[in-house]
Amino acid sequence: MRYVEDIQSELASTFRLITQDAPPRLQQAMHHALFPVGGTVRPKLCLGVAHAISGQTPDLAMKAAIAVELLHCASLVHDDLPCFDDADLRRGRPTVHRAFGEEIAVLVGDGLIAAAFETVAAHQGHEADKVNQMLLILAKALGPSQGLVAGQAWESESEPSIEMVHRHKTGALFEAAAALGAISVGAPEGPWRRLGRAIGQAYQLADDLMDALGSTALSGKSSGRDALFNRPSAVRAFGLQGAVDRFSRVIDETIRAVPPCSGRAALVDLVQQMAVRLCPPGLRERVSRLYPVLDETPLATGSVAVN
Ligand code: IPE
Ligand code: IPE
Ligand code: MG
Ligand code: MG
Repeated sequence: MRYVEDIQSELASTFRLITQDAPPRLQQAMHHALFPVGGTVRPKLCLGVAHAISGQTPDLAMKAAIAVELLHCASLVHDDLPCFDDADLRRGRPTVHRAFGEEIAVLVGDGLIAAAFETVAAHQGHEADKVNQMLLILAKALGPSQGLVAGQAWESESEPSIEMVHRHKTGALFEAAAALGAISVGAPEGPWRRLGRAIGQAYQLADDLMDALGSTALSGKSSGRDALFNRPSAVRAFGLQGAVDRFSRVIDETIRAVPPCSGRAALVDLVQQMAVRLCPPGLRERVSRLYPVLDETPLATGSVAVN
């Protein structure tokens, strides 16, 4: 079950559509934000859920998958800005504001968010009910109470719970991706939401670990941001080994959370591939070897290089 080529080509045609009359610099910067694509894990999850339930990936599932990817890319562009994580590198290349300036980067994020809603709303099938339901799911996943905006804002509160931060800033989009996949094929979203939430939790645990370990070469993005800006992080909350242990536990829970369905085996496989991508082979072992030293090292002074 590999969707990479389909996702890339749909994203490319969506990009052409949404930027056809855009000012040239904005167009270039939006292209920079989307391509080359990253891991595309959220759209893969959306399509994977639709396929696992029904054996099909309908057009509406693809539209929803692209919408989630657009929101995700918007969140990365804004997250990298100097007022958030002040990052120079993303996917092994300069961040959008480093390449095009801050004004354009803010607008790229805004433009991608608008485009996400347009992509689903413009769906030409006779499925108005599903489309409406999907627009609501996307809005809430982005929003200020339960969504990504809430998650980023929790980072500015004095003592946010790490679960709250992770669930909103990362989990909300994974949850939406899985729910949208289910809705696209007419299935109830509840059990799939739980799966998405679990994957999101694992995802941010692994991301916090990578950030603390300073593995820019592995992740292709600026690391050490959590310590530098005093961000809530799983490593700060649980220690390195604690974060690794949680990651392993959550991955096991995630596999168990895959609801019964005809394509369950393939979906479990997809989740396992995500887990390996998240925590590359050897990282857990390296952490286990290093943690007695690292857990005594104050991470607030910066990231720790692992070679
Ligand atoms: C990065 O997400 C931001 C987090 C929520 C951890 P991804 O690792 O999915 O980013 P790309 O799209 O593959 O670059
Ligand atoms: C990830 O936050 C969630 C977003 C909303 C982008 P991080 O700041 O931890 O993500 P990375 O490490 O920059 O990708
Ligand atoms: Mg951040
Ligand atoms: Mg960041």
